[in-house]
Amino acid sequence: MAFSESFLDELIARNDIVDVVGSYVQLTKRSGSNQFGLCPFHNEKTPSFSVSSDKQIYHCFGCGKGGGVINFIMEIEGLSFRDAVEFLAKRSGMQMPEDDVPPEQRGRRQRLLELNKDAARFFYENLSRPEGQAALEYINRRGISKAMVKRFGLGYALDGWHNLIEAMTLKGYSKRDLLEAGLAKEKKGSVYDVFRNRLMFPVIDIRGSVVAFSGRIIGEGEPKYLNSPDTPVFSKSRNLFALNLAKKSKAGMLILAEGNVDVVSLHQAGFDCAVASLGTALTREQVKLMERYTENVVLAYDADAAGVKAAQRAISLFENTGINVKVLKIPDGKDPDEFIKKHGSDSFRVLLEQSDNHIDYRIMAIMGKYDLNTDEGKIGFLHEATQMLSGLNSSIEREVYGAKVAQYAGVTPEAVKLEVGKAFKRRLRQEKRQAERSEMRVENTYQPDDQSIRYKNVRSAAAEEGVIRLLLLDGGLIRSVGDLKGSEFSAPFLGAVFDKICEKLRAHETVTVSSLAAQLEPAQASRLSVIIGKPEVLSEAEKSMADYIDKIRTEQIRSRGEQDLLAISKKYRQTKGYGEHNG
Ligand code: CTP
Ligand code: MN
Repeated sequence: MAFSESFLDELIARNDIVDVVGSYVQLTKRSGSNQFGLCPFHNEKTPSFSVSSDKQIYHCFGCGKGGGVINFIMEIEGLSFRDAVEFLAKRSGMQMPEDDVPPEQRGRRQRLLELNKDAARFFYENLSRPEGQAALEYINRRGISKAMVKRFGLGYALDGWHNLIEAMTLKGYSKRDLLEAGLAKEKKGSVYDVFRNRLMFPVIDIRGSVVAFSGRIIGEGEPKYLNSPDTPVFSKSRNLFALNLAKKSKAGMLILAEGNVDVVSLHQAGFDCAVASLGTALTREQVKLMERYTENVVLAYDADAAGVKAAQRAISLFENTGINVKVLKIPDGKDPDEFIKKHGSDSFRVLLEQSDNHIDYRIMAIMGKYDLNTDEGKIGFLHEATQMLSGLNSSIEREVYGAKVAQYAGVTPEAVKLEVGKAFKRRLRQEKRQAERSEMRVENTYQPDDQSIRYKNVRSAAAEEGVIRLLLLDGGLIRSVGDLKGSEFSAPFLGAVFDKICEKLRAHETVTVSSLAAQLEPAQASRLSVIIGKPEVLSEAEKSMADYIDKIRTEQIRSRGEQDLLAISKKYRQTKGYGEHNG
């Protein structure tokens, strides 16, 4: 572990888990110091995700994930341990340790982010230079306000091959920096600016770093948008344009548009929850990203054929997610920007409210897969459509759309209704079974679900967990552990945790679950949160401790005995001549 423990302890102390989790999950106070919310790591309708302010840990009773604040950030932001620590350090205004010079790779990331920030500033400043006037005029012509230029940090890439390169070289950036950031390209030994004579939109990630750029051509021409390539700090499929702004919106939804200009225009009209993907079809990662912030997404794609197709493709990505998706229909072939310009933001709000639910779209998408002129096509269509309809929780919706499906396939509504009803009941049964199964798992097994920490000796591990739990609940119990050592534990990571706790307690230091969890693998950290969450009667703690230790030692002897037996029988077989080499 590269970070000192005192650093990590301070980091954890400064990032209260309730605050941190609270910025991702809506928590409601329930019992004691525990708060509950909907688990951000799996889809659920009733909250089984708890955060304890006392223990500074989180745990989901549904999916089993858990740990301390660092684990949470690793999991939800998809960061490495190191990055999660940095994230939290930044959040709480802590300096990263000096002696902890990041390895080459991380130094590079930092460098590229700096470069991007400087480039964004350069582009922005170009707007007030004489050479930037055409871009400014274009911005005005598109009706983009000064406030939006500022909010989005819009800029202009000058018309020429080396403007950015020269400016950034003066600031000390190297050719390699520029190439790696995707801002320059090299051809036959000469380096040139990627973005030339374009309106520049910085892409800013949710942590507030400029990670890439989109450049729109000034006026007409192809390609309309040029986007940064994937770089060490940017992945097109994992970012959304303007999410850095939209994530703060109070609208309770995200509007997904196609073009950057649409997004800016929407924000300007008061729809501050608009985002766009970056020149690729929507990806699963982007859906996951949105899921962190909202349950409602409205697709506001262009009304042309390409837009409709893109919307249909996007809708399927929202299936089986926690997001309810709707499709906004823009009349008379416009995109959101044009519509707002023409009819005003109030009219757009009406469109938003009327936005169609996705079901029609999904039926159309399924229909597109089959040839309804053939019997097989009809059957295939009906089969898939009834399956889809059975996923709708409202009986009215099932009925209304069932009738539509029947009409398309040329069968009676009753036939469809019957099939949908059957599929719906099947689904309910399945869900119930699943719920029961996951409940059972939580309740009555000591065996972790995660294969990587599967216990070899569950009986012993249960006792080992007990020892750890007791020590974490009452450090004073250290006097009852005697000479028990971690090496006696059947589960190595529990042994290591135990040793760590003892070391700290004997040095009269405090032990926190979150600092222990920070040093464990995610699966182990989750397990630790399970361990600490199990009930324990403290009034008889000393006796429990003795029982646990007893159990660990009996199991030790037992398994050693088994090993001895095994050895003896092996030897016996060998002497008998039918050991290893069977013929
Ligand atoms: N697009 C892209 N890169 C981006 C954003 C959009 O390549 N960063 C592509 C989309 O994939 C889509 C098209 O550009 O095919 C969207 O264009 P449009 O909606 O017309 O973009 P606007 O910004 O609204 O352009 P306009 O100025 O014409 O309104
Ligand atoms: Mn547009």
